[in-house]
Amino acid sequence: MKQLKNRIIKVQIDNDIILRMGDILAYLMVSSLILVLHPSFDAKLTLRTILLHICFGFIVIATLRTVLGVYSRRKRRDRITAIVLLVESDCVAMLIYYFSQHLLNYMDRIELVTIALIVAPTMGLSFLMRWFQYQIRKWSIDLSDTIPFSPPDISDLEIQEVSDALRSGWITTGPRTKLLEKNLKEYLEASGCVCLNSNTACLEMALRILGIGDGDEVITCAYTYTASASPVIHVGAKLVLVDCGREDGSIEMDYDALEKAITTRTKAVIPVDLAGIPCDYDRVFEIVERKKALFSANSDIQAAIGRVVVIADAAHALGARYKGGMVGSVADFSCFSFHAVKNFTTGEGGALTWRHIDGVDDDQIYKQLQLYSLHGQSKDALAKTQKGSWEYDIVAPWYKCNMTDVAAAIGLAQLERYPLMLRRRRIIIRKYDDALKQRGIITLEHRTEDRTGSGHLYITRVPGITEEVRNKIIIEMAEAGVTCNVHYKPLPMMTAYKNLGFDIADYPNAYDKYVNEITLPLYSTLSDSEVAKTIDKFTEICNGYIKSLN
Ligand SMILES: Cc1ncc(COP(=O)(O)O)c(C=O)c1O
Repeated sequence: MKQLKNRIIKVQIDNDIILRMGDILAYLMVSSLILVLHPSFDAKLTLRTILLHICFGFIVIATLRTVLGVYSRRKRRDRITAIVLLVESDCVAMLIYYFSQHLLNYMDRIELVTIALIVAPTMGLSFLMRWFQYQIRKWSIDLSDTIPFSPPDISDLEIQEVSDALRSGWITTGPRTKLLEKNLKEYLEASGCVCLNSNTACLEMALRILGIGDGDEVITCAYTYTASASPVIHVGAKLVLVDCGREDGSIEMDYDALEKAITTRTKAVIPVDLAGIPCDYDRVFEIVERKKALFSANSDIQAAIGRVVVIADAAHALGARYKGGMVGSVADFSCFSFHAVKNFTTGEGGALTWRHIDGVDDDQIYKQLQLYSLHGQSKDALAKTQKGSWEYDIVAPWYKCNMTDVAAAIGLAQLERYPLMLRRRRIIIRKYDDALKQRGIITLEHRTEDRTGSGHLYITRVPGITEEVRNKIIIEMAEAGVTCNVHYKPLPMMTAYKNLGFDIADYPNAYDKYVNEITLPLYSTLSDSEVAKTIDKFTEICNGYIKSLN
């Protein structure tokens, strides 16, 4: 059985080869069958029919590809490629046809009927093979031992884009990174966008461009990943952590605590869109506006903003909306993560977007971020390759966190597929919600009137259990073949933050939310049967610990 499973999984890996082999097999089988059974079978006629068949096949495939290329892809480059392919294939087809006409006599009606008879079943069989291959893939996933927590969703499109980048002769920051920046800026409705090598780098660069450093304070939530907070330390500012609110349906910062934490030294607040659910930005902006009198600017951008700056840690929230606006254009600055486990990945990577600030030139922000991310070098590597353009200056000894074109190539493909990927995540959330809410499991609200989350994490809380029981449930889930996780152990429980003087006793809500938290698998390639298995195992195992779950 294990051997069979391995073979099936191998078939899944060799998916591309199977597809092509399926097409060729179908083509050969049907054409030889029809030709041999044909009443007027003779060698000459067979040769001519095959030639015409190939010619016809070329046109059909090229037309189909063009139609798919034009309608399923948004990029102009792809449309041009698809049309070039059509023209190319038509030329080849015409050549074959011309050749066959001269080599042999003209066709009779029977031959035309033969061709029609060949083409229709060939396409039918080819379609059947593809359907069969899809079923094998689904079956192999269902049979596999363990449902992973968050594997990346990489299709042939990403592989193609990366291989194009590798073949292009330019693999570091260059045209693909610029195109991804442009596409993301449009998608996120932002005034500017720069792609870097992580969300952490984006947060740090946002703090640096604002001139935040020694003597300043930056506030974020205790219930988050270290990367929301560590950039504050990197720039030399003081980190201020606030607790999260008590409400069950969310893990946002306690906004009253945020208001109280703002002092004359506060320069920025970093709200975290945990699980991809946007924070209450109206509330955050109301607070920083109300506290305007305490604010004193120590850089031009800070002066232009004139209040505490809102920098969203939107690591989880690509594609989320707040009151109709895209996260990425709501806060002053927004930082996204394209790490391997995120909804949208470039392996490692991130994007920093911003909203227009009156009196500040968006291009100037972009240029400064380019300098920060590339050693303070006045020309990037691509600009230096222009004829006679070797000379550059180092304007300051800055940082190195640029995105490569190989990574951007993955991002370009992911962005094309992203609306469908998001849709699948939302469908899974609905299935989980329907099954778990009625059993008393606490979950987050991924969709409300004002907010549409990006469906990054399915965070649950099992009522009334201790931390030990939570850990036991996670182990039992793993034994049952479902990988779960915890998001997050609050920062004041981590050594680095304890050493900075933080104590979890000061963050009771964060602690309460953490002790019984279990995150279930949620990703675009999770199949319906895997969702069903996760729900069954989770409710069954939780039932053993809390009698109320029925
Ligand atoms: C909430 C949050 N912020 C920031 C990050 C950091 O992202 P990156 O790894 O791209 O720096 C993560 C990554 O897991 C995260 O979960």
